[in-house]
Amino acid sequence: MDTDALTHPTDPEVATHALAEAATAAGYAPSIHNTQPWRWRLTADTLELSLVRGRVLTITDPEGRLATLSCGVALHHARVALAAQRWDATVTRMPPGDPDLLARLHVEQRSPVDSASTLHLRSIPLRHTDRRPLAGAPVGPADLAAITTAVQAEGTNLHTLKPDQILELAAAADHAQRSEIGDPAWQAELAYWTGDTAPPGTSVPDTAIPDRATQTTVPGRDFGHHGDLPVSAAHDKAATFVLLYGDTDEPASWLRAGEALSAGWLTATERGVSVLPHSAPIEVIAARQALRAMIASVGHPFLVLHLGTTDPADTAASHTSRLPAEQLIDRA
Ligand SMILES: Cc1cc2nc3c(=O)[nH]c(=O)nc-3n(C[C@H](O)[C@H](O)[C@H](O)COP(=O)(O)O)c2cc1C
Repeated sequence: MDTDALTHPTDPEVATHALAEAATAAGYAPSIHNTQPWRWRLTADTLELSLVRGRVLTITDPEGRLATLSCGVALHHARVALAAQRWDATVTRMPPGDPDLLARLHVEQRSPVDSASTLHLRSIPLRHTDRRPLAGAPVGPADLAAITTAVQAEGTNLHTLKPDQILELAAAADHAQRSEIGDPAWQAELAYWTGDTAPPGTSVPDTAIPDRATQTTVPGRDFGHHGDLPVSAAHDKAATFVLLYGDTDEPASWLRAGEALSAGWLTATERGVSVLPHSAPIEVIAARQALRAMIASVGHPFLVLHLGTTDPADTAASHTSRLPAEQLIDRA
């Protein structure tokens, strides 16, 4: 055995290892209903990200908008991991030929130490969805500005809803939930991804679903049953709602929006700000149009985020499980 190769790996071997680590870090990414609709293909110096159609929610998300956005989060997590390992990655988004091939990451040269990415890499496993009422202190202007800057740096926009727009959002979210709940096929899809029917390592577990209705202005996802997550009776009056939106409504923008969501959410995590995505008003076209009117039709809404801080007395929210890396990474 060439022991020298083990103790002194060549740059190409280090690059392949860094790409494998990046795909593994990407496994922590949030996704709609925890479907994790992505797959990586690893070669010596390249990592390819593909959308897995079998884990796209065909009723809730027929165009794959939220699945592609989820893949974008995974892409940004992988970019963070490469930068933290001092690799300069070239990213090719939506390479021609295969519509499900979303991005190709290629590493060739080393980059200087990047302390922001090192911090983000540490935050990746800590980030989680918080469905408890965010009844602590309001999000401060410096935190909101930092989250907005992080989102904008990834080519996506963030609009902070004004109080009257939060009431409009509440109406749109309520309309969206009612129309979805009225559809038996939608209910069956939700039940599949919130029960023990979904593939092990996917789905939203009861430990992440509130044990009673939360007191909130904008209704969160109705999972059809109460879970085991203890929530207080406090009202999240102080919560901030922001709208993530892009210039065009197409897969390339959805992917970028996912990268922006990752950048904003990791920044929020580092600043003690809790995040809960609301996608029901995006899933139903009439509600999506109502959100579009709130930004005077200058862009296309992709996701609503509920931001806030929790009551310090609340226990930490639990983490959801993930598919094992071997099921998500193909090695050529
Ligand atoms: C695009 C997208 C849409 C989501 N929509 C909702 C939603 O409407 N309601 C909700 O409670 N959680 C929503 N989530 C959160 C996911 O359910 C969550 O990310 C997943 O279960 C994994 O849990 P974690 O974020 O705690 O790791 C969404 C996440 C993403 C990425």
